[in-house]
Amino acid sequence: MKGSTEYSERRNKLLVALHQARAQAFLITGLPSVRYLSGFTGSDGYVLLTTERSILITDPRYEIQAAQESDCEVRIVKGPLLKEVATWVRRFRLTALAVEQNRIGFDEYTELRAALPKVRLKPISGAVEHLRMIKSAAEVATIKASVQLNSAALEQALKSFKPSLSEVDFAAEIEYRMRRLGADGPAFETIVASGARTALPHAHPTDRPIQPDQLLLVDMGARVAGYCSDMTRTHAVGKLNPKVRRMYRAVLESQLAAIDSVKPGATCTAVDRAARDVLRGYGWDRLFIHSTGHGLGLEIHEGPRVGRKDRTKLEAGMVITIEPGVYLENVGGIRIEDTVAVTKSGGEVLTPTGKELVVL
Ligand code: GLY
Ligand code: MN
Repeated sequence: MKGSTEYSERRNKLLVALHQARAQAFLITGLPSVRYLSGFTGSDGYVLLTTERSILITDPRYEIQAAQESDCEVRIVKGPLLKEVATWVRRFRLTALAVEQNRIGFDEYTELRAALPKVRLKPISGAVEHLRMIKSAAEVATIKASVQLNSAALEQALKSFKPSLSEVDFAAEIEYRMRRLGADGPAFETIVASGARTALPHAHPTDRPIQPDQLLLVDMGARVAGYCSDMTRTHAVGKLNPKVRRMYRAVLESQLAAIDSVKPGATCTAVDRAARDVLRGYGWDRLFIHSTGHGLGLEIHEGPRVGRKDRTKLEAGMVITIEPGVYLENVGGIRIEDTVAVTKSGGEVLTPTGKELVVL
């Protein structure tokens, strides 16, 4: 075993949750958490964690990679990985095994139940996700690199923008730029929507040509060394009517107000309210149909949820998005989104891209 690493420190923190659940071992089945706790980036693997041992179980395709990436004991298994898990549980004579309630598949649970009839399976929800909410300085630096690359990709793609390109073409150009700049890939399917389709918050790009005198909404994120970024910018292609321009101002004011309210100790509810209050002043709060933002990290959507109901208090080390929007059917939608790090003194906007309305 290697000495103390960022991964072993995370595993030690998790042992506290294990102790509280009165289980002797924890089976990690969610791949982002497997990565977080072991360093392993493959597509198939579990971590079995006890107070004494950390075992990464994966298949022969990953024999070389797992040993290179992980500081855990690596077990390579032909056939079902859960059989190996059960073997270790019996070998350790465990009587209670914690499982990730929100990340274990029904099949996996059923198989485990059948293989270990005498072992109590203790469902624990969100224990690793809870740790993942607070990023280390190294994680924040990686997210910042992801955010900067993402903005550079948009800047480069916009240079080759012309009306008549299709939404799909422009999305492809953006993703190509991300890869050329060194991203692992996009963090999610790039959203490019034009005209009235901008009223669909999660529009799929179409092959229809982008028309002049319309809105163009781009929601994009890169993944860099595993970590996500997330940004939305809404542009004008040519002239916009006064109502749509006013919608843009309202959303920008709302976004700035929410960013202003970000500080350690502020609840997510309060940040969400700050965004909504501005839009209420314009009479458009009902057009804001999603939450103000979300945490991000190894996954594009992580805790906390910056919405009406999440009373989580922000803490230094969290990284969240702030992304209010208004959506008016048959007219269009505006969303402006930045990635923001919570620091000891407030919110640091990581996204370098400007937010004044850009006319293409
Ligand atoms: N930017 C995609 C999302 O937050 O859902
Ligand atoms: Mn987002």
